[in-house]
Amino acid sequence: MDLKRKAGEKVAEYVEDGMIVGLGTGSTAYWATMKLGELVANGMKIKGVPTSKSTEELARKLGIPILEMSEVTQIDIAIDGADEATADFSLIKGGGGALLREKMIASIAKQFIVVIDPSKFVKRLGQFPLPVEIVKFGWELTSSQVSSLGCKPVLRQEDQVPFITDNENYIVDCYFDSIMDPTSMRTALNSIPGVVENGLFVDMADVIIIGRENGPAEVLS
Ligand code: A5P
Repeated sequence: MDLKRKAGEKVAEYVEDGMIVGLGTGSTAYWATMKLGELVANGMKIKGVPTSKSTEELARKLGIPILEMSEVTQIDIAIDGADEATADFSLIKGGGGALLREKMIASIAKQFIVVIDPSKFVKRLGQFPLPVEIVKFGWELTSSQVSSLGCKPVLRQEDQVPFITDNENYIVDCYFDSIMDPTSMRTALNSIPGVVENGLFVDMADVIIIGRENGPAEVLS
């Protein structure tokens, strides 16, 4: 079985009737949402809060009842993928461009479950370029302020035009050698006025599920 699928489907074991569930974005979270769609079709009563427009579309197709962010103050479980994760549960997220909504939703979840394949589990963060969401206004200046933190920011493009997030912002993908102190970097990045949010998720994940080649998915908690 596909390892992303193995990890994604495992989260079904954590979801109970009546829960409000944060629905993640990306190719691993996709499998979790698909599985939840199956549970709903079989009569489970849950409601989903999607982390992106694309996930909302998928959830609606699957018949998962949707709640707007403005309708919730707390979420029972948020499920999402990651681009990198370490043994101390620090993450890089935002490869799919949904990092702001993902962080907002994870931040109000009683339990945040991360689903990955083994290639995402790394010793130290920073091989994957860190996505940073910035406002369009003066983005060149913001990008240069970001670079002073020791990285090379590259404006994300899609079809040769700047990628626009669901919140109408830009993303710069920041190339570091490695990120030695994710907590300080997270704070430093968010102190730059044009930065909306960055893809470092520190002290947020409660469980990491890794789809393993042989045997069942591995659960770290
Ligand atoms: C979306 O913005 C991201 O944070 C994804 O969760 C992350 O990029 C992992 O995506 P995949 O599961 O597709 O690798």
